[in-house]
Amino acid sequence: MATYSTKVFDHGNYESFRPSYPNEFLELILSYHQGQTNRLLDVGCGTGQVTFPFSRYFTTSIGVDPSEGMISRCKAKSSSNQLEFYQGKAEDLNMISSASIDVLTAAECVHWMDPAGFLNEAARVLRPQGTLAFWLYLEPIFKDKVLNEIYHRYVMGDPTLMRPYWDEGKSRFYDWLKDATELISEDDRFENVEQVKFDQLNLPKDKWEQALKSRTLDGKPLLFLQKECTLEEFLAFINTYSPLPGWYRANEGAKGTDRDIVFRLETDLRSTGLWKNTQTITWDTMYCFAKKK
Ligand SMILES: C[S@@+](CC[C@H](N)C(=O)[O-])C[C@H]1O[C@@H](n2cnc3c(N)ncnc32)[C@H](O)[C@@H]1O
Repeated sequence: MATYSTKVFDHGNYESFRPSYPNEFLELILSYHQGQTNRLLDVGCGTGQVTFPFSRYFTTSIGVDPSEGMISRCKAKSSSNQLEFYQGKAEDLNMISSASIDVLTAAECVHWMDPAGFLNEAARVLRPQGTLAFWLYLEPIFKDKVLNEIYHRYVMGDPTLMRPYWDEGKSRFYDWLKDATELISEDDRFENVEQVKFDQLNLPKDKWEQALKSRTLDGKPLLFLQKECTLEEFLAFINTYSPLPGWYRANEGAKGTDRDIVFRLETDLRSTGLWKNTQTITWDTMYCFAKKK
């Protein structure tokens, strides 16, 4: 957790590249919720990517994050007394009274949490018929197959590249993707579980293209995160990936040479002939909504 949050959040490139959540998605949560909107709780709030935009729908909005840096940034940005921020973990929300929250969000952070601890606290703080909404975005996917192959090879596919240097958060992403519905569906404190997983490369081509066009999958709205960028901008973003320092430590002397992982990635990206073109990338995403009984 420490590597990821300090590295990533200190990095301007990543911050500016990071996709933000479309308003339609926040409205989708509200249309699922259909209940009172007195109190929002956003756990793993980071610098308030959800807390601030979502707060306009609620009387009071509370952000919680274990990182002191994140919480002080939120407090510095907040001018309203309808916003509260606390340092803490989703598994121990002692600052929140039981059955007091209407909507609980956890954006791009559940993979850092102990699932049982998180669900226990979610079940405790939500009011009956309160909504739990958590979501993740995973890999950026290009429309171009060759670019996807290059990206996948550098990030996960080739064991001599980034793969061994990801911290546990990366694999826990995939565990959450696999287990989230099961975990919540089997938990008798929650009901009406809805999950939409947009795993693009595992969709048949026509279904994928249709999903990109309609922003829905099997009739359900997607959490749709898309960005236009050049490969040069994309490379600047990759340069902030958390396994790189580990790779450089293990490959001493490679930095700045033609063995340098980023140099090799740039060479491979340039060799596609697409370096100057603008690319559209769309993230793999999943979201899960559930109601507290
Ligand atoms: C990638 S950031 C996501 C921030 C923001 N929610 C967003 O959507 O951009 C992950 C956040 O999870 C926080 N985090 C890590 N472990 C946590 C835990 N056990 N409980 C709550 N938040 C946690 C980190 O401090 C970090 O701010």
